[in-house]
Amino acid sequence: MDLATYLAELDATAAAAENALESAASADDVEAARIEFLGAKAGRIKSLQKGLGQIDKADKPEAGKRFQALKSQIDAALSAAKDKLGDNQQAASPKKPKSQKESVAAVPGAFDPTADPPEARMRLGHIHPITQTITALQEIMGRLGFSVAEGPEVEDEWHNFEALNIAASHPARDPLENFYLHTASAAAGQPGKSDKPLLLRSQTSTVQIRVMETVPPPVRVISLGRVYRPDTADATHYPMFHQIEGLMVDRGVTMADLKSVLRLFAMSYFGGDVHIRFRPSFFPFTEPSVEVDMSWKDGWMEMGGAGMVDPHVLKSVGYDPDEVTGFAFGLGVERVCMRRHGIDDIRELYRNDVRFLEQF
Ligand code: PHE
Repeated sequence: MDLATYLAELDATAAAAENALESAASADDVEAARIEFLGAKAGRIKSLQKGLGQIDKADKPEAGKRFQALKSQIDAALSAAKDKLGDNQQAASPKKPKSQKESVAAVPGAFDPTADPPEARMRLGHIHPITQTITALQEIMGRLGFSVAEGPEVEDEWHNFEALNIAASHPARDPLENFYLHTASAAAGQPGKSDKPLLLRSQTSTVQIRVMETVPPPVRVISLGRVYRPDTADATHYPMFHQIEGLMVDRGVTMADLKSVLRLFAMSYFGGDVHIRFRPSFFPFTEPSVEVDMSWKDGWMEMGGAGMVDPHVLKSVGYDPDEVTGFAFGLGVERVCMRRHGIDDIRELYRNDVRFLEQF
């Protein structure tokens, strides 16, 4: 091939490449041009390179120089086109990502699973102090052989009062002392629905009855849960609070057992030497009945009520009071929790102020 023809071919290729790259509208077009001109196997530059071999020896330096010039020219034009279309494309739709990180970062506001989490999101929540207390009390009583029983928060009068020996005339049954539900009229005429008055349970002693109704003695259970009383909220009252109820029925259970269990329980929860004091009291479902006080660090504090299960109650659930005796206690969960953590207002527990709750 003579030099003139070869140079003409170089010029034609330069023009064609320029044309192809100028009219490229996408990264794909640029890639197609790259293959056409610079493709390693069948690219036009490649065949021009081969053509060099047929040039007369005297003309080779000139032909080679021009060939190199063309090659660099096309290389430069190609990378210019890549840059340009790369930028333009990113604004419209992201180019194929090299990595996950790149692709997500390219779309503003998109969720990026590879990004480092902002510090605020790393803050862990806290288990509510009452839930923590319940867990601790269950664990302690579990070690003393008590299993956990549960009962409904919406109760009937049999379980909340009658079976517990609380007579119809007892002031504790006053509608103003309880959250009765409007169920009687709502359920009237609906088959299968009870028209018995229902109320939010005012004590967890309901669960004593539910347990004894279903299992024969001996029993050793605790029940922890919410109870409801229409009290005005103040530092020591709240219309909803929690009780831990304990019940142990067996042959020969005595007040001494009650006191030992309560003392062990208090010592485990508070850690250290806790003393238990009984003051005479009255509950319709226990005889004798006591108020339970405990002293830990400074001064006595009232924990709740307790006593020996009244024979009437044992009878009402089909137990034989001549065969078995039992003790029961009902303590305020908030009280022990507040005492242990030095909380002086029960309302703090239910304000849901994170600054308060995150201390526990
Ligand atoms: N249920 C009683 C109350 O809520 C406490 C109690 C439980 C007393 C068990 C005696 C026995 O005040």
